Amino acid sequence: MIVIDSLTVRFGGVTPINDMNLTMTAGSNGLIGPNGAGKTTFFNVLSGFVRPAEGTVTVFGDELLPMADFKRVRWGVRRTFQTEQAIADLTVYENVLLIEEHSGRKSSTRRADVIEAVEFVGLGNQIGRAVGTLGAAERRLVEVARAIVGHPRLVLLDEPAAGLPEDETEKLGEIIKQIPDRTGAMVVLVDHDMELVSATCDEVAVLDFGSVIASGKTQAVLADPLVMRAYLGDDERVQA
Ligand SMILES: Nc1ncnc2c1ncn2[C@@H]1O[C@H](COP(=O)(O)OP(=O)(O)OP(=O)(O)O)[C@@H](O)[C@H]1O
Ligand SMILES: [Mg+2]
Repeated sequence: MIVIDSLTVRFGGVTPINDMNLTMTAGSNGLIGPNGAGKTTFFNVLSGFVRPAEGTVTVFGDELLPMADFKRVRWGVRRTFQTEQAIADLTVYENVLLIEEHSGRKSSTRRADVIEAVEFVGLGNQIGRAVGTLGAAERRLVEVARAIVGHPRLVLLDEPAAGLPEDETEKLGEIIKQIPDRTGAMVVLVDHDMELVSATCDEVAVLDFGSVIASGKTQAVLADPLVMRAYLGDDERVQA
């Protein structure tokens, strides 16, 4: 369970997270909302890049925000970014191993963890290839492998399918959906692709201007007129 209580982030005069309150209980949870709603900022708070002005986040009973960044990684916080992080010249194996480097685990355990993560995302037969030689969909899978290696407890995926064709997005969704059962971690998936979110997440929350405007079972939330309006409002802002 993830409990977010009164979370507020301020950057000068901007308040990208504004009294966010939310409880997530599903294995896979969607977090959606228009551009600039605060989704990535929320991930930055969880991974320790951004210090909030107020609020608490408790995951599986542990308060995350007072933990030092490296402790969060050891605790099990993992994430992907909107831009690819894997290093093109390194192999799939080496890229995934980088995440485990400071895990404090034995090297034989790390090796086994890396192989397991790479096999889980279906790249077992590409493990020795340089990431730069892989296709776009495979590189996304490397990012996912990096986000689940070792013992993840909270896996944050920031638009993992952006720019992928529909069939590749579907395959990625099937892999993401298995993360909670395979690893015991809770997943938070941010994506603008509502088909991916519906296919992958049992529950969804909607952020707009840094506050939660709807949350609950995915189908009910996506059918909520308030949610539609948040997205339409975004189009109007873009046109203005
Ligand atoms: N370091 C920063 N300094 C100042 N403002 C910032 C900073 N990072 C983000 N913002 C602002 O905070 C708001 C939320 O941005 P954020 O990146 O969290 O949105 P998002 O929901 O992830 O959007 P998208 O769907 O486009 O990725 C935006 O108005 C953004 O310009
Ligand atoms: Mg973002």
